[in-house]
Amino acid sequence: MSKGVLKVFSEVAHLYELVNHVLTLGLDIPWRKRAAQVAASGGGTLWLEVCSGTGDMAVSLQKLAGPDTKFVVSDFSLPMISRASEKEELRTATISLADSQQLPFHDNTFDLVVISFATRNITPNRLRLAMFLREFHRVLKPGGRFINLETSQPSSTPIRIAFRFYTKQVVKLVGRMISGSKTGYAYLAHTVPRFFNAEALSSILYESGFSEVKFVTMTFGAVAIHRAVK
Ligand SMILES: C[S@@+](CC[C@H](N)C(=O)[O-])C[C@H]1O[C@@H](n2cnc3c(N)ncnc32)[C@H](O)[C@@H]1O
Repeated sequence: MSKGVLKVFSEVAHLYELVNHVLTLGLDIPWRKRAAQVAASGGGTLWLEVCSGTGDMAVSLQKLAGPDTKFVVSDFSLPMISRASEKEELRTATISLADSQQLPFHDNTFDLVVISFATRNITPNRLRLAMFLREFHRVLKPGGRFINLETSQPSSTPIRIAFRFYTKQVVKLVGRMISGSKTGYAYLAHTVPRFFNAEALSSILYESGFSEVKFVTMTFGAVAIHRAVK
């Protein structure tokens, strides 16, 4: 478990969703909605969201779940997951305090595993990221789907430069002003330009045992949704 990451999210939990909406100019709402639609389209009766934070993505997913779908929502930060547990929309979901590196679930359990805006935070290291992805792969049933919504790297150079400038200057400053956390948004701003582009992330998913990896990008490539199958 990364104690640094745990501290960052525990520190910003109370204002996390507000800061997200402000920093993305509200775009995180349609991004999550689209990722939830991609995730839910394959159906299944047992879904897991890892690194679910305050449950913003989980709410979008829960709205698309069938009446027989059981939904488990997990994160390792108590302040973050406590907020998810207070959400009316998630009253039927099982809330689990768990480190995604070692999930407390049997092999071949879930039809769907979802993660949003967290792969970038769990580790910037390719080999360690593959370890986490293999853990998600382990708990999926054969044929189960993995959905990853994450910031990406725009392929157009001018857009990439503008995106990095925005992240470096605005995210750090505005995030700090609203949340009061000195280190939290500095850390988040640091991870965005260092994360993999969509093609590289596809390769890491294949290396981690997944197949049929596909992705779509949104907002000029600033964000990508990856879909992979066990
Ligand atoms: C940027 S937030 C994203 C939250 C949510 N998925 C969303 O879309 O708003 C990242 C979350 O990942 C969680 N996280 C990071 N590393 C983790 C780990 N190893 N195990 C479980 N949760 C982790 C943090 O506690 C935090 O709640």
